[in-house]
Amino acid sequence: MTTRGVEASDITLDGTWSFRLFDTPDDVPVDALNGDTDAVGWHEVAVPGNWTLQGVGDLPHYTNIVMPFDGPPPILPARNPTGVYRRSFVAPERADSSCIRICVGGADSVHVVYLNGQFIGYGTDARLDSVYDVTDQVRDGENELAIVVVRFSAHSYIEDQDAWWMAGLHRPVHLMIRPADRLEDVRVEADWDPTAGTGSLHVRAVAALERLEAGWSLRATIRDAATSVAVAHPATAPVDVDHTTTYQFTDVGGTVSLDALAVEPWSAESPTLYTCVIDLLNPEGDVVDTVTQRVGFRRVVIDGPDLLVNGQRVWIHGVNRHDHHPDRGTAVTVDDMRADLVQMRRHNITAIRTAHYPNRPEFLDLCDELGFYVVDEADIESHAYNWHLCDRPEYREAWVERVARMVQRDRNHPSVIIWSLGNESGYGANHDAAAAWVRRSEPTRPLHYEDATRTQGWIDGGRQATDVVCPMYPTVPEVADYGRAVADGRADRPFIMCEYSHAMGNANGSLADYWDVIHSYPGLQGGFIWEWKDHGLRHPDAADRRLHYGGMFGDNPHDGNFIADGLVSSDLTPHPAMTEVSWVYRPVATWVEDGHLFVENRRSFASLDDLYARWVFTDGDTEISGDLEGVDVPPGEYRSIPLPIALPQDLGGVLTVRWYLRDARWFAEADHLVAWDQYIVESPIDGRSTGAPVADGAIVAGPMPQLWRAAVDNDGFKLMLEWAAAESKGSQRLHKWLQQGIDSMAPTDLIEYDREFQPGHESHTFTIPNDLVGLPRVGVRYEIDPRFTRMRWFGRGPGENYADRKRGSMIGLWEAGIDTQPYLVPQEYGLRTDVRWVELIDPAKGDRLRIETSGEPFSFSAVRHTAEELYNSSHETELTEHPHLILSLDAAHRGLGNGACGPEPHEEYEIGPGTYTLAYTITR
Ligand code: GAL
Ligand code: MG
Repeated sequence: MTTRGVEASDITLDGTWSFRLFDTPDDVPVDALNGDTDAVGWHEVAVPGNWTLQGVGDLPHYTNIVMPFDGPPPILPARNPTGVYRRSFVAPERADSSCIRICVGGADSVHVVYLNGQFIGYGTDARLDSVYDVTDQVRDGENELAIVVVRFSAHSYIEDQDAWWMAGLHRPVHLMIRPADRLEDVRVEADWDPTAGTGSLHVRAVAALERLEAGWSLRATIRDAATSVAVAHPATAPVDVDHTTTYQFTDVGGTVSLDALAVEPWSAESPTLYTCVIDLLNPEGDVVDTVTQRVGFRRVVIDGPDLLVNGQRVWIHGVNRHDHHPDRGTAVTVDDMRADLVQMRRHNITAIRTAHYPNRPEFLDLCDELGFYVVDEADIESHAYNWHLCDRPEYREAWVERVARMVQRDRNHPSVIIWSLGNESGYGANHDAAAAWVRRSEPTRPLHYEDATRTQGWIDGGRQATDVVCPMYPTVPEVADYGRAVADGRADRPFIMCEYSHAMGNANGSLADYWDVIHSYPGLQGGFIWEWKDHGLRHPDAADRRLHYGGMFGDNPHDGNFIADGLVSSDLTPHPAMTEVSWVYRPVATWVEDGHLFVENRRSFASLDDLYARWVFTDGDTEISGDLEGVDVPPGEYRSIPLPIALPQDLGGVLTVRWYLRDARWFAEADHLVAWDQYIVESPIDGRSTGAPVADGAIVAGPMPQLWRAAVDNDGFKLMLEWAAAESKGSQRLHKWLQQGIDSMAPTDLIEYDREFQPGHESHTFTIPNDLVGLPRVGVRYEIDPRFTRMRWFGRGPGENYADRKRGSMIGLWEAGIDTQPYLVPQEYGLRTDVRWVELIDPAKGDRLRIETSGEPFSFSAVRHTAEELYNSSHETELTEHPHLILSLDAAHRGLGNGACGPEPHEEYEIGPGTYTLAYTITR
């Protein structure tokens, strides 16, 4: 494994290969390796690709923790699908004795390479390159390449990530053509000294030489990546070849250094890159090999409880990202990866944990270029055998190799700021062995390993294996506790949650509460939301366009829709929670205090010059607005400016400040909305209802009291109810509701309910007994003529929002069509909170049906399905439309919490006992 990636001289072997599937490795006959591929049983498949998505008779399988077959390690299933991939290639022209290698970018799970029927090698690391030297085996003209890939192996036990079990050559395959005398490995340490404001470069190169004689040298030139202008004079160093003098020899290599360079630093905010050209010169002075390496000058250190980049604290506005595409599975293209990054950056996401394995090297190229901080994670997860394999000597080498090979491959990427030893594998001696290798070989980045502190404690635990405290799914009070421990001097490591805010279905409750705490205590720097994208997959049979989750391929055991837990859908459509993500991760915050407007620049390096701001004040009826001028806030600081308008304290209303991009960037057009904040002038907004009562058939039914909502995934796993109850998985709230009959009984049999009404006026009183605390909702429901296809309201919007996921949804005057159900497994959706009035509009006739509070603000949703219809369907494609528009008005609605994988809603977002009132006028 070297830092050298794909180069211009390489020849791709990607494309259509012949493929044949066998039931076990033992079933593969010898002639499958070099015989005819026209016979029955042979298919054509794409490389890279997952064969499990290419219609060859073997399908994906989803499990979270358990293995897809019985153990214990290293026992394998009796049926172990084995694919033979075949193709031929014509030997490249080559100079005498140049070197030819085959690079297999990634094969799930293990693979064997044969060239012209001859065994070449065996590779066991599914998510890193396996490189085979075939210089002596390649023959002139046509060559026959066979790669046998076996779906499950002893290594599957340490690739037990929560994802689809796939199979095949899922990453590119290519031939590497290298000169006989060559650079084998080039390691670049590009440091930036924030005090001196200069960069330095240390290039350690290792060469392979046919003639080990004195006079070979290395030369490094550093150029501006955009203009190609050299930044400094080239530096040279001799290549050490003196292996005969005892104790002298280090390697066939040398180190070239360039110091005090006048360069710009690299950061995710300004990802300035340079081009470093490293030449290998022979004793005659001719250049015989060249490596071109992009470099970014930056320094990552931990200083007390702070992780610093170039001397500054940075916020980790992160997500966890798997390789996933609904048709290509894990075989993602560079365009797929770029599309992910564009969508992330549009929503202010600037950090990624490569959960839970190294991605294609091009992914890191993109992160270097576009500006993301990356936690690069080794492909090790033994979740099903958490406490077993991490101490097993049989697996020690796999542990060290997987970590070390990742570091060797990725060390030149400035975007990588932390190394992760893997995920959910217990904590054992194998971890410490891998950590020790990294600490010695690549000490410029800190280490990260969650289970080390989970098992040994956040304050002092696991120091050998982790330099950061990186828990998963802590509660908000636990995060605050750690912050207090840092403040008291009891804790001294940065706190960066490796996973938090589980995005399964309608979720991400309390995201803003986490960030209130993160911004309030020392040592807390953010974290990575779980997770970026749903993993819905389309069936290889093109007739079935449904996005599949666990079990839909006939896979068993499986974990159902636990695989659909992304901030974006499988095809990259943002789920509603992305609004909240953009808001909590916004780079500039604005607030009103003491009659002034405060602006905070949350960036670490850049000014706010690339943004412009506008303010708007509305009292719910009219709006006034203007530009926000004179704001110049240095990074990491805040400034106050006079309020742009005198806020009318007697009337009430809201002042909103929005920040937009001045110019188009790679992720968004000019005028893209980047950040926003709102100040609410507390006095109530008067009702303006002047219409007549509704009596023309617009209301088909209702109001009927309603306590039930179509459970969200955070209430419980409706598709896996019994299992979830038996194993105490996820939230048990749904289970409780079903036992209480909340879904089936008439609300009037459960609570005290009273309705008072007169034409145009409604008042509902609900009294919740103590034993029913924690209900889904308290309110009423109407069925409305479906000709009302638009809604207009004054409250939070524009998208859906809930008690504990509403801070990014601004109060304002909004208008929208009727929402479609956004989740793969249907569930409650579409709520708008803090609403003073809502109008349902029939655009054809111009009719309006207006509901306006005569007391407290309420929540509403107007959707095309009843709660029962949503709850009873298990896939988005099963949902049918109700003949009427379903209008729900809630006096209270339970928060979303994180119960699918994490804490339940905080107490203030639960529906407690007591009396709730919903009073409004309903007019037209
Ligand atoms: C974590 C795990 C992730 C994923 C998540 C739940 O425990 O590291 O891989 O399983 O929970 O979706
Ligand atoms: Mg796991």
